[in-house]
Amino acid sequence: MAEVRDPFWGVVESFGVDRMFVLPEWVQKKAEEEGEHVVPSEGIQGNMAALKKELEGCMKCQLSSTRKNIVFGEGNPEAGILVVGEGPGATEDETGRPFVGRSGKLLDKIFASIDLNREKLFIANIVKCRPPGNRTPSASESEICGKFLKRQIEIMKPGIIVALGASAARTLLNTRTGIGLLRGEFHRYMDTPVLVTYHPAALLRSPALKRPVWEDMKRLRSFMEKAGLPRESGEKQ
Ligand code: URA
Repeated sequence: MAEVRDPFWGVVESFGVDRMFVLPEWVQKKAEEEGEHVVPSEGIQGNMAALKKELEGCMKCQLSSTRKNIVFGEGNPEAGILVVGEGPGATEDETGRPFVGRSGKLLDKIFASIDLNREKLFIANIVKCRPPGNRTPSASESEICGKFLKRQIEIMKPGIIVALGASAARTLLNTRTGIGLLRGEFHRYMDTPVLVTYHPAALLRSPALKRPVWEDMKRLRSFMEKAGLPRESGEKQ
């Protein structure tokens, strides 16, 4: 029987030697400061649960009229690693969970390559309801729903945000610069370092993007080591 090669690991293996990445000074400083942030009064889990409840039945934009489920996000909000995608697709809309379709399965493999899983990060999207036909969320939808993402970030106080794809990068960084130019260095959302990489859906269309994504994952891993991420749940912040 022919050996089935895992599409991501096949590429990962071919790179061989790991490289150390030097962090820009402000990111290094932020990494050293990790652990100083204040936990809100109800705790991160409690505040996230309260925000999720607040979002129930949201009708703030037109996406509410076609959605089946609101996809708030999932994972460990205490871990200090926030991954941000664009918006739910069909499977996410059905299940109410982020990144559970084909892109999500690839994303899980990508993160597994640097020993991350959903217990060690939190995944959310710019918009919490599925845009019909998986179209790109409009600027106004992103702005309206982006306010909830902002509150998720305020609650989590992540040590790093990983932006997947153009929509996430555009909304978080308020830029129209393409991913090709944004990836490869750290940006900021308020005071939080943001690493931009390609959306897994783009990798499914263009396997050549696996190499830069792997480079980005090595950069993320190097940052996590310096910043002591993921944080242990219940760790005194
Ligand atoms: N694509 C996204 O950007 N988010 C999801 O949750 C699923 C697919």
